Amino acid sequence: MAKIIDGKKISAEIRQEIAQDVRRMKEAGIVPGLAVIIVGEDPASQIYVRNKGRACEEVGIHSEIIRLPEQTVQQALLSQIAELNARDDIHGILVQLPLPRHIDEGAVIAAISPDKDVDAFSEVNVGKIMIGNFRFLPCTPAGVMELLKRSGIETEGKRAVVVGRSNIVGKPQAMLLLHANATVTICHSRTRNLAELCREADILVVAIGRANFIKAEMVKPGAAVIDVGMNRLPDGKLAGDVDFAGVSEVAGYLTPVPGGVGPMTITMLLKNTVTAAEAAREKRERS
Ligand code: GUN
Repeated sequence: MAKIIDGKKISAEIRQEIAQDVRRMKEAGIVPGLAVIIVGEDPASQIYVRNKGRACEEVGIHSEIIRLPEQTVQQALLSQIAELNARDDIHGILVQLPLPRHIDEGAVIAAISPDKDVDAFSEVNVGKIMIGNFRFLPCTPAGVMELLKRSGIETEGKRAVVVGRSNIVGKPQAMLLLHANATVTICHSRTRNLAELCREADILVVAIGRANFIKAEMVKPGAAVIDVGMNRLPDGKLAGDVDFAGVSEVAGYLTPVPGGVGPMTITMLLKNTVTAAEAAREKRERS
């Protein structure tokens, strides 16, 4: 039976460490600040944004949630970002995705100062991830790496398979595993022999957005299986991309949904916000 990786518990430990860092910064007169912009009324996004605000409060980070109506024109959103870029008390800016269809996501991400891009979505920060000279770690993939590390799962020399090639998870996840000296394969919807490739993985990270897609027979006995999926079933329940009941019989380690990767994503966002605030202070001291 797989050992279940408790993302809530690991997340709580890291948030305590972050809270301590924030206390120290406050003693030095700096309050890390995060601005979260949400455009429109998407119910899932509303919940994510509320959770981000709450998590900030818990660790002492100042947060502002800016709610803009669905019909907001792109220029108004860009002006809002420009204002936040210029503020000294805001160190991180996050625009919740997806945006309404009339707004160009790429243009919005490009408008965020790379120094404040705590999602690490901008071209500069994505480039830094590729090179391995990180400023901000992409939140979800970084959360996965922390889960592995704090569960004592070695990556060095291991076969890692990432299922999914999104810019938010799959691609940066593959890079972080590569930097951690794993041998990495990225699989996606056009991959042939997907099951066979998955079965070679010592570490299997799944982010494809299809409920219960990974079955027990696709998993190598003893493998660490990390489920990034968050799928809403017709009955309203949440399901991951991994068939939890079946795979837990085969895997060595497995993350549940909810309570696995989810809490870690916000934790890494908090960490990036603190990193941004520290970098801003260093920049000020140098100038
Ligand atoms: N929507 C879903 N995941 C994310 C994320 O990590 N960051 C942002 N900004 N929007 C998201």
